Amino acid sequence: DKGNHRHFMQKEIYEQPEVLSHTLGAFVDMSSGRTRIPDGQDLDFSKIRRIALSACGTGFYAALVGRYYFERFAGIPCDLDVASEFRYRESPLGDVDLALFVSQSGETADTLASLRYAKSQGLKTAAIVNVQESTIARESDFVLPTLAGPEIGVASTKAFTCQLMALAALAIRAGVDRGVITPERELELTRTLTEAPRLANEAIRLEEVIERLARDMATKSHALFLGRGFSYPLALEGALKLKEISYIHAEGYAAGELKHGPIALIDETMPVVVVAPHDRSFEKTISNVQEVAARGGEIILITDASGAASGAVEGAQMIVLPDMPEILTPIVYAIPLQLLAYHTAIQMGTDVDQPRNLAKSVTVE
Ligand code: M6R
Repeated sequence: DKGNHRHFMQKEIYEQPEVLSHTLGAFVDMSSGRTRIPDGQDLDFSKIRRIALSACGTGFYAALVGRYYFERFAGIPCDLDVASEFRYRESPLGDVDLALFVSQSGETADTLASLRYAKSQGLKTAAIVNVQESTIARESDFVLPTLAGPEIGVASTKAFTCQLMALAALAIRAGVDRGVITPERELELTRTLTEAPRLANEAIRLEEVIERLARDMATKSHALFLGRGFSYPLALEGALKLKEISYIHAEGYAAGELKHGPIALIDETMPVVVVAPHDRSFEKTISNVQEVAARGGEIILITDASGAASGAVEGAQMIVLPDMPEILTPIVYAIPLQLLAYHTAIQMGTDVDQPRNLAKSVTVE
């Protein structure tokens, strides 16, 4: 049932404030503010030397944010592979002590095969999954639930942000286990995570602004998405979302890679969506964006109040979110990217919930 919404995708975008708070509740005890592993499972990060992360599609981009989280908040180095590579690569696992998989459906063939491969190598396995009765949930040593509820739209939205929430909370937990996060810092970080639903609502309120930008996007045949640091995976996710439902060719790049090739594509017809909260990467991202502006590229800057006030890029179209701590930016910035893809697809008249050639759950390799 789509309720008042035109598509499941829109409904699922709107559900995010609520399901983010459910998911957070699985990983944080709300009365004490302490992180926990759901259902009392005995997952302890104190002796984990390295984590191998693997997933497909949007789950892979969540895992990419997860790597930044684990490295930043817990000091645990991570390997990362798309599951279709991990399962065949036979890479030496070295000091990997945990394989962590991310999957909405829990049935994705390559992710399941990667899980089985990791087990065959004697690794402990954990899975962040949305469907609790799935094969991946059944076969993992540790099940880390996202509580996004059923996701019907083929383009993943709420499952993605809930995966990010789970990963953020887990990374904090890991930092506590390893003694790199003090109890006070833990409380501060979990309090920050409780702000996510409110900020997600603020992002949703920008829908009209984004809809106007989407009218223009729908006239294009290509788009570039850029981001740095925590926002790099978001650029990849924004490009995936756009191509999958609007069929506009879109590519995501780390902003620093621009001058290593993609800048050759920039002219007046190329829209460039830049994900740039005013964080430690901001200045660097903006200097890349100025190179785009100098070549006539059309810029859509997704930033926050501080970023907008810096007046960094003249003539850019802006989507302005409130300022927020950096751990939240991947979660909240996903929403304008989803809305941009959604409204562009509506303009194009595509089948938003069932885009051509795609299946919700990819159970063959
Ligand atoms: O169910 P999973 O999370 O394992 O699915 C992985 C991908 O097939 C999925 O994320 C796909 O990329 C989505 N259509 C993206 O919106």
